[in-house]
Amino acid sequence: MIKPVLKAFGGQTQVSYPLDEIRYTANDGRLLEVDNFLPVLTSNEVMELKRTFDLRKFSFNPADKSGVWRYREFLPAYKPFDNIVTLFEGNTPVYDMPLCATYAGLDMLYAKHQGMNPTGSFKDNGMTTAVTMAKKLGAGMVACASTGNTSASMAAYAARCGMRSVVFIPDGQIAYGKLSQALDYGAITVQIDGDFDKAMNLVQEICADGSVYMLNSINPFRIEGQKTIMIELLHQLEWNIPDWIVVPGGNLGNISSFGKAFSELKACGFIDKIPRLAVVQAQGSAPLWNSIHNGTRVLVPVDAHTRATAIKIGNPVSFDKALFALDISGGVVESVTEEEIALAKSRIGAEGIGCEPASATTLAGCKKLVQAGIIKPSETVVCILTGHILKDPDFTVEFHQDELFADATRTSSVSGHKRISTGGFANKPIRLAADLETIRSYLKSIESHS
Ligand code: F0G
Repeated sequence: MIKPVLKAFGGQTQVSYPLDEIRYTANDGRLLEVDNFLPVLTSNEVMELKRTFDLRKFSFNPADKSGVWRYREFLPAYKPFDNIVTLFEGNTPVYDMPLCATYAGLDMLYAKHQGMNPTGSFKDNGMTTAVTMAKKLGAGMVACASTGNTSASMAAYAARCGMRSVVFIPDGQIAYGKLSQALDYGAITVQIDGDFDKAMNLVQEICADGSVYMLNSINPFRIEGQKTIMIELLHQLEWNIPDWIVVPGGNLGNISSFGKAFSELKACGFIDKIPRLAVVQAQGSAPLWNSIHNGTRVLVPVDAHTRATAIKIGNPVSFDKALFALDISGGVVESVTEEEIALAKSRIGAEGIGCEPASATTLAGCKKLVQAGIIKPSETVVCILTGHILKDPDFTVEFHQDELFADATRTSSVSGHKRISTGGFANKPIRLAADLETIRSYLKSIESHS
């Protein structure tokens, strides 16, 4: 086995660095990725490995109980896998979504809910590997810019191994569910007067001298852990490859990790087909969508606007890797309006599942891609729900009270912001006198209407 290295991503010239060198880009500015040098597997070795993964699901070994480290053969950079920092992440459910399938015009629809992770988002898959590496490298403090979920996850994993963490978040643009986590897990929480992209630039400057270790998805070790979201999904589908996997796109780390996962799995012979990837952005925060639809494939940063604040990102760091993921999977990009997001989110809630707004771009995007004839109704589609419904309760309550406005941050007034239509899906709370008769007659009245 050749020892993994950090390799410059893309471009003509091959440049690599030792794994333990603290850096986030190549000297020429290119992104970095872990080159795992995975060996090509015989069909017997593939069968053996699948059996090993099955057996680990019943093991009491902490590494096996994690839905990330269970697949450690695809994470050779961490050999001998000692001292892993884990919250037993992963093991997130794959639900069938009949109501949402109908809403999208699909025969059937599945959702893998990464909001059921320990800190309520998909970030935990990448944070367990990134913080484990931070510890291996002897980092004393870790940092990230975040729209909320990265900071919550980083704070939790840092706390687990006694490491200090500092998060930089756009003031007034973070959902309170996420802010509460960063505070409770003990992160130094810095709210800056600017958006996520400004916070991202700031944290890159702060971490440039190596004194603080940066854990945003520009860090290639985050991508390593998030690859396992796809490996676990295939395991849960008994290794049947779905036709489509649909994921939200913000800083574009997640779509990049899915691309790397399928590229490695195919190259080593573990799978023989790559599913098509669809990445969905909010229309007011869609630099990837813009670059594909204007035919340039060049990133032009935008001033991002969306109530799905998790993906309110105008200058995504992993843009080039996201293009690779689309290219190797015959993938597509879609963008959806604030209203389409809100309506889709209400349908996921009506299914008894629920999610945070950014996750709902997947169902909204599916609906549009089916209407456009790009996804066929009979195709097998899996939406990746990336955050738990409790992350952004304001959005949900405002929707059901018919008081949801486009991109009205907590600090700015809602005047001048467009009210988002609830399409008749609002489930408004009602007020009743607290007496038996009133309540009984009300319940009777709704019974007669149902
Ligand atoms: N969904 C949720 C719930 C997110 O929190 C994010 C990103 C995304 C989707 C987009 O994933 O950035 O890899 O394309 N949240 C980051 C954060 C930016 O700081 O929490 P991506």
